[in-house]
Amino acid sequence: MAFELKKLNPWYWIHKILPRTLFARSLLIIVIPVLLMEIVVMSVFVDNHWRKITSRLAFGVAGEIAIMADEIEGGVTDKRLEKLTNYAAQNLDLLITYEKGETLKPEIVFEGTWEPFTAMALSKALSEQVRRPFSLSTSPDDKWVNVGIQLDGGVLRILALERRLFSSSAYIFLLWLGGSSVILFSIAVIFMRNQIRPIRRLALAAERMGTGREILSFKPEGAREVRAAGRAFLEMHERITRQIEQRTAMLAGISHDLRTPLTRMKLGLSFLDGGDDVKALKQDVTDMERMIDSYLDFVRGEEREMGEPIFLTSLITKIVEKTRRHGTEIEFIGEEDIRIVARPLALERCLSNVIGNAEKFGSGIKITIEKQTGSIAINIDDNGPGIPPELYEEVFKPFYRVDNSRNTTTGGVGLGLPIVKDIVHAHGGHITLDKSPMGGLRVRIELPQ
Ligand SMILES: Nc1ncnc2c1ncn2[C@@H]1O[C@H](COP(=O)(O)OP(=O)(O)OP(=O)(O)O)[C@@H](O)[C@H]1O
Ligand SMILES: [Mg+2]
Repeated sequence: MAFELKKLNPWYWIHKILPRTLFARSLLIIVIPVLLMEIVVMSVFVDNHWRKITSRLAFGVAGEIAIMADEIEGGVTDKRLEKLTNYAAQNLDLLITYEKGETLKPEIVFEGTWEPFTAMALSKALSEQVRRPFSLSTSPDDKWVNVGIQLDGGVLRILALERRLFSSSAYIFLLWLGGSSVILFSIAVIFMRNQIRPIRRLALAAERMGTGREILSFKPEGAREVRAAGRAFLEMHERITRQIEQRTAMLAGISHDLRTPLTRMKLGLSFLDGGDDVKALKQDVTDMERMIDSYLDFVRGEEREMGEPIFLTSLITKIVEKTRRHGTEIEFIGEEDIRIVARPLALERCLSNVIGNAEKFGSGIKITIEKQTGSIAINIDDNGPGIPPELYEEVFKPFYRVDNSRNTTTGGVGLGLPIVKDIVHAHGGHITLDKSPMGGLRVRIELPQ
């Protein structure tokens, strides 16, 4: 039902028909009004104007023919007829012949590509002005129109040149109209291209920033609004970078400062005799060291590392082999080598964290790669206990650990998945959790290609 309703909405169809790019849309904004204007001008003005002119021309020719018909019918000598013929040929572009004693078959024949309107206008003018039976035919080569008039004593034949009846000014006007719109269209294309280029550059810079790549020589340009957007983007980029740097520096500082007293404590403890208390203390110190390592890892995830083309399958194979050396059963299916642009160290840390979790919580792991249009999906399945679906969001929060994993064998701080999520997002990708067909958790990482 919702589907049907959507189709009834005119906006649905407008959106469907409208071109997607700003360039094409802006051209439409220019082209549609110009086209509409031309259609109106053509149909109203040109048509009207052209018909009027054609009727006037036909009226003139018919008038001249009528005068000659009257002249000849009033009784004419051969000498007078010759003079009349010469005059008509030289000054009126009309070739006349008089066939004495002939009779005419009144008919109208249109051949060639003559506008029917021209012939019709002439036939109307003839019947109005000559008021005698007449025949009318157009020559196939469009050059002449042949008129015959029945007079009392014979037939008057007139060949009228096309230019006496046909006005080409309307065609020339149309040609100009077409030509000027082509010029206008070309100027619009060049102009729009230049206007849209800065927007495209801004989008590219924003995309690069989103995927954690360096913004190459972006500078605000173009129209005022576009420049303002570009400047705002640069400021935002700077602010975010500064914030990340501050946070990184602070976390790194704290972790680093804690390490020194911890090392001292460890040294002090090693001089003490091993009672149970000392053992517990030693364990605590080891745990604290591991935590600090995790914090440092978290911080390092945000260090500036440049994206570069890497082979994904090789990278995963490297991690898989490392895991296999721990004695974990791990299967990896990835046929050909897939190239993606990524930050190699960050991506390795990300995949190691996920695979490390699978290793920690399960005993069998399977990794598969799916190629999709424009992206690559990596599925990491394990046969562990999995995560209840209602906690899928929670586990991505820093320091969150599902209750039953709080035991010494799976000890961790709960920073693994937050780091993973950060890295995946920094690459412009998505991460989702699901139930695995192997019984445990499926982590699906989609990265743009
Ligand atoms: N493959 C998995 N199977 C079952 N539970 C998991 C799995 N991966 C993560 N979890 C649950 O999600 C929690 C958060 O994982 P995360 O990697 O962030 O932390 P951690 O592994 O406990 O600690 P850290 O990674 O910082 O050493 C884990 O404590 C665990 O409860
Ligand atoms: Mg982990």
